[in-house]
Amino acid sequence: MKTLMLGAAMAALSTGVSAQTIGFSQIGSESGWRAAETTVTRQEAEARGIDLRFSDAQQRQENQIAAIRSFVAQGVDAILLAPVVATGWDSVLEEAKEAEIPVVLLDRQVDSSEDLYLTAVGSDLVHEGAVAGQWLVDNKPEGACRVVELQGTTGSSPAIDRANGFRQAIEGTPDIEIVRSQTGDFTRSGGKEVMESFLQAEGGGDNICALYAHNDDMALGAIQAIKEAGIDPGDDILIVSIDAVPDIFKAMAEGDANATVELTPNMAGPAFDALAAYMADGTEPEKFIQTESALYTQDDDPMAQYEARKDLGY
Ligand code: AHR
Repeated sequence: MKTLMLGAAMAALSTGVSAQTIGFSQIGSESGWRAAETTVTRQEAEARGIDLRFSDAQQRQENQIAAIRSFVAQGVDAILLAPVVATGWDSVLEEAKEAEIPVVLLDRQVDSSEDLYLTAVGSDLVHEGAVAGQWLVDNKPEGACRVVELQGTTGSSPAIDRANGFRQAIEGTPDIEIVRSQTGDFTRSGGKEVMESFLQAEGGGDNICALYAHNDDMALGAIQAIKEAGIDPGDDILIVSIDAVPDIFKAMAEGDANATVELTPNMAGPAFDALAAYMADGTEPEKFIQTESALYTQDDDPMAQYEARKDLGY
């Protein structure tokens, strides 16, 4: 049965006679990075003649589970899943497996057994946090450095791993202390609101040396809050975050942000490549297809970086 299904999908891929159908359960549109991932996935699908069925979960896991069940009922050839949180996927992934529909995870991880999905495309999220932490170790001012942290969505793999990676990197530097940590849910408005509360709780910005935000959108919201409080972001408070969205490069060019770790929005390209090989002859991909995590600072011509990314759908 599996061979027959693979054969049919292979014929569709090689002849282009009938499009392959792939369901995509996306988390939502919480950040510029997420919007870009959606745009790039649509573009990659179109370029390959794939019929992409898109479902926006609006940040809710139950919506993603319903979408996967619907894709299974529709008999799609494969499913892309960007899982909002790490736990709670076993049953629905087992249903997809039972239906012999391969699932590819995009950008976030799940706690489920590896045999429930074909492969996962993403960055090393712990490493991203460690790169951000190391930047601070190398660039902090002399003496004690009190850090505030804006975490991503609670229970999501990037929030868990980016928090851990950062802590691993600063562990050997007792001068650096994380004094406040709260989720901003990966949104710009969440980042602004939580940063306002950090500033209030700290009696202003004098005692805060740096902000570590798990994504650029939260950093951008925080930068606004810091400016409104009459403090100079990028100088009085160092700003390090993750994603490399175009707006963070603008902020860097203006001296308001210091460093970001890039997360490519093109997870779909490697995912579709892995699916094509699997469907062609059953080639099993690596369980984890890793994307790059480059660090960018104010020294990396931020406006050129902005120009290079501004048309990617951020
Ligand atoms: O899972 C990746 C993260 O999700 C991105 O860093 C963040 O911007 C998005 O919301």
